[in-house]
Amino acid sequence: MSSPSFVVTGCAGFIGSHFCDHVLNVAGLNARVVGVDKMCYAALPENMQDAVDDRRFDFVREDISDHKAMRDLLKVLRPMAVFNFAAESHVDRSNQGGEEFVQSNVAGVQSIAEACKQLKDANRPITFVQIGTDEVYGSLESGSATTESGLNPNSLYSSTKASGDLVALSYFRTHEMDVRVTRCTNNYGPRQFPEKLVPVMVYKAMDDEALPIYGDGKQIRDWMHVTDHCRGIWAAYQRGRPGRVYHFAAGNEIDNLTIISTILEALGKPADLVAHVADRLGHDRRYSLDSSVSERELGWRPMVEFSSGLAETVEWYRDNHRMRDVFREVMSGEYARKNYDG
Ligand code: DAU
Repeated sequence: MSSPSFVVTGCAGFIGSHFCDHVLNVAGLNARVVGVDKMCYAALPENMQDAVDDRRFDFVREDISDHKAMRDLLKVLRPMAVFNFAAESHVDRSNQGGEEFVQSNVAGVQSIAEACKQLKDANRPITFVQIGTDEVYGSLESGSATTESGLNPNSLYSSTKASGDLVALSYFRTHEMDVRVTRCTNNYGPRQFPEKLVPVMVYKAMDDEALPIYGDGKQIRDWMHVTDHCRGIWAAYQRGRPGRVYHFAAGNEIDNLTIISTILEALGKPADLVAHVADRLGHDRRYSLDSSVSERELGWRPMVEFSSGLAETVEWYRDNHRMRDVFREVMSGEYARKNYDG
């Protein structure tokens, strides 16, 4: 029997790279994982280090929105499943405009769906797992979004993610393809690109710089360790059903000020580093998901306790000098000059 192979797009990013490691751990000795990434600014070769050391892993540099490249790749690989993590993911960047959000998050999804469809049309079994986000439900004053809740995205980022999910699901409805969508709450953990809350605050605190809190800092996010998210996605593939949306909620709804004071405490830095700055445009106040269906149907639940998970994460950033260099380059603008494609 030939080896089961899995394609992971966005494999050099934060969550995609952790997912490659997860699949290599759980999918068996004869599994093959092919990581695909166009190596845009938030993709770091170091993120793939563990995977690259594994003989079952191969890396292909491609852009998911290149239809021909995706079709050719899947035709040769004939994977059992494609997991799409490739996305433009930062809200602040999307607030500055950016056609790359539509290109990657919408057109890229259609390109992958078409590439999967050619396998389905040739009677090859193929599952397409599209990785989504809780932000598609918009800001919730109270309660938690279920998979039946209406989509209500506010930013360009979340609008393109909602669109991508719908594009993916249209291939289930129209072409009876095995498509599944997962949506998760905010992730934290090692390797997150230093433009997001946790790494930004850790590095600024280490450098004794002011920590920029947008607005009043009372915005609430539900923080999940990236490894719990990866287990959820794999469970959705293994035990989920075609055409379904699966939620993963951490149950750690915490406001930004509390996260930041925990980080300051962990680093032994003073609270007066906190500096309130102008609010993010259209800043969503709170996200929250109900993941009871995933818990029931997939037997999934988060395992990493928040305070120890965050403490270990802070230590990882503190001790990872390469990531700290990246952060400094991001802040100075040098990183964008060196790494932006085009
Ligand atoms: O909910 C899942 C989403 O979480 C993912 O889909 C997104 O890709 C991911 O970026 C994240 O979106 P957020 O906007 O919630 O994450 P971010 O780390 O940018 O910000 C978290 C909160 O912290 C948010 O309320 C804005 C605030 N913030 C962020 C930064 C970077 C600050 O107050 N200051 C900052 O410097």
